[in-house]
Amino acid sequence: MVGRAFLCFLAVSASQASTILDELLGAFKSEEGLLFRATKDFSNFTQWPESACALRWDLPPALYVVKAETEVTGFVLQPKMQVECAYPVNGNSAFRKDAKGQKDLCGHTDNPAAGREATNMSGDCSFASPKDYAQAYFNIPQRHLLGFDGFWNLNWATCHFGKAQEALEAQKALWQLATKLPPATTAQQWLRNASKVGFALTAFNEIVVAPVHSADVRAVFWAHSGPFRDPGPSDWKACMLAEFLKSNNTWPVIEVSDVILERPTSNCEIKFDASHLGYYATNASCLTGYVEAMKDLEQQGPAQAARIFRELEVSSFLKATEKACGGGSELVV
Ligand SMILES: *[C@@H]1O[C@H](CO)[C@@H](O)[C@H](O)[C@H]1NC(C)=O
Ligand SMILES: *[C@@H]1O[C@H](CO)[C@@H](O)[C@H](O)[C@H]1NC(C)=O
Ligand SMILES: *[C@@H]1O[C@H](CO)[C@@H](O)[C@H](O)[C@H]1NC(C)=O
Ligand SMILES: *[C@@H]1O[C@H](CO)[C@@H](O)[C@H](O)[C@H]1NC(C)=O
Ligand SMILES: *[C@@H]1O[C@H](CO)[C@@H](O)[C@H](O)[C@H]1NC(C)=O
Repeated sequence: MVGRAFLCFLAVSASQASTILDELLGAFKSEEGLLFRATKDFSNFTQWPESACALRWDLPPALYVVKAETEVTGFVLQPKMQVECAYPVNGNSAFRKDAKGQKDLCGHTDNPAAGREATNMSGDCSFASPKDYAQAYFNIPQRHLLGFDGFWNLNWATCHFGKAQEALEAQKALWQLATKLPPATTAQQWLRNASKVGFALTAFNEIVVAPVHSADVRAVFWAHSGPFRDPGPSDWKACMLAEFLKSNNTWPVIEVSDVILERPTSNCEIKFDASHLGYYATNASCLTGYVEAMKDLEQQGPAQAARIFRELEVSSFLKATEKACGGGSELVV
């Protein structure tokens, strides 16, 4: 914690910060959680539903990433943002379609490469409890490619819930169950199934929201792994956010610390395994680590978890990024 004393830019004074932070923390501590839409483009709004991630006080905070990242920017959505459907893990929603074959992030998986069982199991969830969801998808369905062991096809096959709250409960139940072994599966087989990058467990969830307009944005955010800090030279997304803020200060700026920006989750060394055609975690402790973090959060209570957010003064953020990002033309040799 010593490092925090040396930060160059200060959080906004308590009185100013209280309104926006209180509002966001209220949502973070609510059953639906607080929604984050990752983007680098702050002035382009589309007319289509989009995916966001819900952060809630009792789950390790994780945002969507393709490959491991160290920072992410985007929009914090209004707590009242309309949710269209909610996946407990990455749902590959961009490849889902409605009954007429039109793109529908809340439809069925429609990708021949994903396999028929994925198409069959996708769509609306109908489970009596979050535990039933976890049990129904526990290493199921298996995708078989000729010449290789089967693998867990979770991301393509997962169904979706109507409310973020239901997906978050299912997310917890699934990770909890993942600390056990599925029937007739060795520990090594389960680690591969559960951690296969791009197909299995993700620390982040996928919440599909109605088309985002500028009025649906409550704040812009800069999130990163590790504790609160100044942006550094490798934080190019923070630099892009700064560029936007130079001409537009409509929204408050929120910094989020200690966010998981790795797949399947944090502290997982992953390696390519040619005989199983994919990237897998090498140590089962990465799966149990997520659940331990979850238990810690529950024990500490919502007030402790809320410490990952702070509001930044735009001028201080710009000053800090100016140092880190350089002055454009200075970089040209
Ligand atoms: C700031 O950006 C938002 C989103 O693009 C836009 O709605 C708003 O009009 C802009 N404000 C200014 C002052 O340019
Ligand atoms: C806005 O977003 C759309 C869809 O992602 C993209 O095709 C388009 O190029 C973007 N426009 C600008 C000006 O960035
Ligand atoms: C998927 O559903 C179809 C239609 O109900 C059925 O014919 C098919 O056997 C199912 N496939 C799998 C792999 O479950
Ligand atoms: C995944 O689990 C299944 C069922 O237990 C097993 O047959 C398969 O070999 C596992 N896949 C990998 C890549 O280990
Ligand atoms: C797995 O990780 C744990 C925790 O970091 C460590 O104690 C253990 O030695 C590791 N196991 C292997 C086989 O590397």
